[in-house]
Amino acid sequence: MNRGDKLNRGRDAGDGGGDGGGNGSGSGNRSDGNGDRAAGHALRVENLKVHFRGARRSPFRRPAVVRAVDGVSFQVGAGKTFGLVGESGCGKTTTALALMRLAPLTAGRIRLGRRVISDLDGEALRAARRHFQMVFQDPYSSLDPRKRAADIVREPLDLMGIGAPAERRGRALELFAQVGLSAAQAALFPHQFSGGQRQRIGLARALATTPGLIVCDEPVSALDVAIQAQILNLLARLQRDLGLTYLFISHDLGVVQNICDDIAVMYLGRIVEQASRAQLFTRPLHPYTQALLAAVPRMHGARDGGSRRARPARLAGDPPSPINPPPGCHFAGRCPRAEAQCRRESPKLRSIAGGHLVACHLVD
Ligand SMILES: Nc1ncnc2c1ncn2[C@@H]1O[C@H](COP(=O)(O)OP(=O)(O)OP(=O)(O)O)[C@@H](O)[C@H]1O
Ligand code: SF4
Ligand SMILES: [Mg+2]
Repeated sequence: MNRGDKLNRGRDAGDGGGDGGGNGSGSGNRSDGNGDRAAGHALRVENLKVHFRGARRSPFRRPAVVRAVDGVSFQVGAGKTFGLVGESGCGKTTTALALMRLAPLTAGRIRLGRRVISDLDGEALRAARRHFQMVFQDPYSSLDPRKRAADIVREPLDLMGIGAPAERRGRALELFAQVGLSAAQAALFPHQFSGGQRQRIGLARALATTPGLIVCDEPVSALDVAIQAQILNLLARLQRDLGLTYLFISHDLGVVQNICDDIAVMYLGRIVEQASRAQLFTRPLHPYTQALLAAVPRMHGARDGGSRRARPARLAGDPPSPINPPPGCHFAGRCPRAEAQCRRESPKLRSIAGGHLVACHLVD
């Protein structure tokens, strides 16, 4: 059984918390302590760059610059899920941290709903943080081991002064129910939960401030496949109930296939292909995307109506360094179709058909 088959199959005793499957446990468009409602916000990212400058090793040499994110643009509709995929080191987490305003912005504009969050700082940024939250890959290291689960979940409310202090515990218990945990578990410490349950705590904490956008950075990568399906189901239900907008990051195309509306493929800090889920899985155009898909079992089969053409060779080698990457197409060193032009000219991301964008000289 793959993840798609497992989705929507309901509760799994191993995790001790099902996806809830309905609103009997506190889901629904409920209000927070301030009577505010969670509602998704459209996200618009324009020409985002995050360059990290290394230490200067010599007065005669410029310090090395890591181009972790190098001109990324995309839009996510309110209440939609946008997937960001690519190999390790391509800049997914740095993009996420930049959106959260936790990484320094070298350039670019980030708009969430009516707010231009890239322009905010100081108190205005602090106040806006309630509208965008993040769920991390490793639920264990992202939760304070010395705190009880209820205190972890309510902490953002305490830090931002949201709701009356007396109401915050009630809100934490409401969030517990919303993510499929019981009130009795509120007094436990993180080590007393399973991996999937810890991810539910991370999600409850992210939901506490009724954000419109949640950035999920590899939220299921550390979990067993069966538990992955439960957390993906929970994310889908919360999105339906609360109208959340998701940026969903994964190195695994098999995961994003089931939950994303649109998907961007990143390579060395840039988007090389972007398309709707259907377009990307039935007609991948960039040789890098094709190679990534070839590495995913059952992707090109009958279940998703995918192409039955011969699979391209699997990816060999590593991406070049993001410090002084070579001229031309950054994928040229690994691309089976590379030509002389590819090593000279950098291909621009351009529209091929119906919102399908690709950066490759040989695609038309
Ligand atoms: N604070 C930093 N200073 C210098 N370089 C950094 C910093 N953070 C990230 N990088 C570099 O930026 C590039 C992108 O890293 P990032 O963590 O965003 O990749 P990723 O796609 O999330 O990878 P993974 O799948 O392994 O999580 C990498 O080359 C990384 O070494
Ligand atoms: S531009 Fe050339 S090297 Fe780059 S992906 Fe296309 S064919 Fe391959
Ligand atoms: Mg990462």
